[in-house]
Parts: sequence; C-alpha cells; structure tokens
Amino acid sequence: MKAVILVGGLGTRLRPLSINTPKSMMPVVNIPFIEYVIRRLSRHNIKHVILAISHLAQPIKNYIGDGSRFGVSITYTIEETALGTAGAVKNTAQYLDDEAFVVLNGDIFTDLDISAMIALHNRRKAKITIALTPVEDPTIYGLIETDDKGRITRFLEKPSWEQVTTNMINAGTYIMEADVLNSIPAQTMFSFEKGVFPPLLQKGEPIYAFPSSCYWMDIGTPEKYHQLNRDLLNAKSNQFNFIKNTHVSIGEDSNIHTAAEITGPAVIGNNCTIGERAKLNGAVVIGSGSTIGDSAIVEDSVIWHNVKIEQGAIVKRSIIADNCRIGAESNIIDAVISDNITVTAGYNIKPGSKIWPDTPVG
Ligand code: GTP
Repeated sequence: MKAVILVGGLGTRLRPLSINTPKSMMPVVNIPFIEYVIRRLSRHNIKHVILAISHLAQPIKNYIGDGSRFGVSITYTIEETALGTAGAVKNTAQYLDDEAFVVLNGDIFTDLDISAMIALHNRRKAKITIALTPVEDPTIYGLIETDDKGRITRFLEKPSWEQVTTNMINAGTYIMEADVLNSIPAQTMFSFEKGVFPPLLQKGEPIYAFPSSCYWMDIGTPEKYHQLNRDLLNAKSNQFNFIKNTHVSIGEDSNIHTAAEITGPAVIGNNCTIGERAKLNGAVVIGSGSTIGDSAIVEDSVIWHNVKIEQGAIVKRSIIADNCRIGAESNIIDAVISDNITVTAGYNIKPGSKIWPDTPVG
C-alpha cells in the first residue's frame, strides 16, 4: 500500500516559526517532524510514500532525499498553487495504483496503529476509513458521528455545545479506495472535509470510523508544537525512547560544565556547550551547535539549532528558532522567536511576544 502525506499547507497559525521553515521540518526534540511520520509508515510496512508539497519544498527535499535513509522510497509532487487537502491528493494520482491508499495530514503526531486501521478498512469493505480521536472541546473541530457498527452517519463542522453528541473528531489519517479520486476535480482547490466526505456519505457510500485514544497531537500552533516536545520528553508517546521524566540525553561532542544543573527531562543535541552554573529546568530541548552561557537559565523551552544564549540570560516557556543570539542578562518569557534574531544584552522581551524574522529586538 502507498501513502500520501500532505505537507503543502501554509502553516499560518504557526507563524512566525513557519515563515522560513516548513511545518514538516520543524525540529521536534531535535528531529524534523516529518521524519517521525515517515518512520512510522515504514514500521507499518508502507514503503512508498508520496509527499504532496506546495511551498518551501527545497528544505524538505534536501533532508528526505529519496527516502532510503528511512527505509522508504519517496516521490514528490509540487503544486504550483496550493490545491487543498483533496486537490493535493488528486494531484498525486499518476503515482497511485488501482488499490486503496493511505492519506495523512502531515502535521499530526500520533501513535495510531495504521496496520489495524487497514485491517478494519478491508474487513468492513469500506470506501473510506477515517481515524477518530477524542478531544476535550469538540466545538472548534469537525465532529464525526457513527452508528453502533462504527459506520459514519454524520459530519458536523464546528458545532455549538447544544449540538455536541460526541467528542470524536477527524484525526487526519484516512484509508481510501482508488476510485475516491474520481470524486475530486483535477487542478482545483478541493478539501476532503467539505468537498469529498459529506457528498459520498450522502450517496450512501460505506465510510467507517477507526476510533483510537492513543497519543495524538497536531502541531498547528506554537502552543501545540511546544506541548508535543514536552509530551515526548515526558514519555507520553511510544515513538520516543524516554524512559522516565527526569531522563537527560546529551549529544556527541557536547560539553556540559560540571557546575551546570540539569533537572530533566532534557535533550541536548550535538556540539553544544552548557556553561558554569547554567540551569536547565523542566522539559528542555537544546538544538545542536547551541551554547548556553554561564549562569543562564533555560526552563520549559524548546531551543532550535545554533542558538547562543549568553551569560545570565533567562529563557522560560519559550521557543527560539535557528541561529538566534540572546544577549547576556536578557529576559525571554512566554515568547516565540523566529530564526536569525538577535536580542540585545539586557533587553526584556514583553511576555507573549512573537518575534518575526528580520525584526530588530532591543
Ligand atoms: P494553517 O494555515 O495554520 O491553517 O495550516 P495549514 O496550511 O497547514 O492547514 P491545515 O492545518 O488545515 O492542514 C492540514 C494538513 O494538510 C497539513 O499537513 C498541511 O500541510 C496540509 N495541507 C493543507 N492544505 C494543503 C494544500 O493545499 N496542499 C498540500 N499539499 N497540503 C496541504
């Protein structure tokens, strides 16, 4: 079976992190997000993967290449203008066979058992099978109702609380028969959620649900992206090999001063330096080539690659993207800082700030 991963969205809600880095290349505990998705497919014996891209294609191609490093073979399709979720899959039709295939929203991290989902799809002789996940507040999502055999009976977009009959939402993984492609117009902006699923349901096609309460997180916003990093460090997913919550992992050629304090859980990449009396508190990721200066404090934060946090600076509950320099004695609290930003020494960023590329700070 082949899989199509949708990685062509603009990621507007993830800005400013997604301006120069495609969502699928964001480092999650120092590994590009897409690598987890591809490795999971490979583990479920899905060895041919089509990446449907529409912008910022080059960083993805440079990293993934032909896929052989991850045990799969990769084909790329590039949309000139974004075609929406279904339009993007239609655009891959020439690479699909006359049999069922998997579609994944490329911004979801999940432990979903794809093999079991495929088995259910075949057993039910479904036209489409949609994975479902429970959420606390279903009113901001699209609800999916099922009968007692798991057959989908209704799609309900962003319901009011009075309309809420279930907390199960579309989890962004689908198995579909090849002829579903016939219901999608070519080179047209088209979405599964609005343009494909409801009309096929109305026609009486067998569309089944595969509910699962396994780990599931979409990285649509900086808050959720940060939470995914925390969750992996706290061993909430079975895809990240952290054994206990205070675990500390240190990459090759990294230098940790004997008087530095690291509570864990923490992952420090390769070629990092952690200075004297520096403190890493709580769930912390430090990207490769980064330096944490003497007496600096980094708490509950995700630091990307080649970041320099100078002496005495304080960084809490923040995300700092590649190649930033955080000046000595500055304060970065509850902030999201995009790549290549320099914060002047002694400057206090207003909590809650999102700093865009090419913005002078300080
Ligand atoms: P926002 O702009 O913040 O809503 O993010 P997004 O553009 O990624 O949209 P959304 O979160 O709804 O997309 C879900 C998944 O589908 C993501 O993995 C997107 O990359 C992907 N996707 C969305 N639209 C397109 C598209 O037009 N083409 C392709 N190839 N993928 C898409």
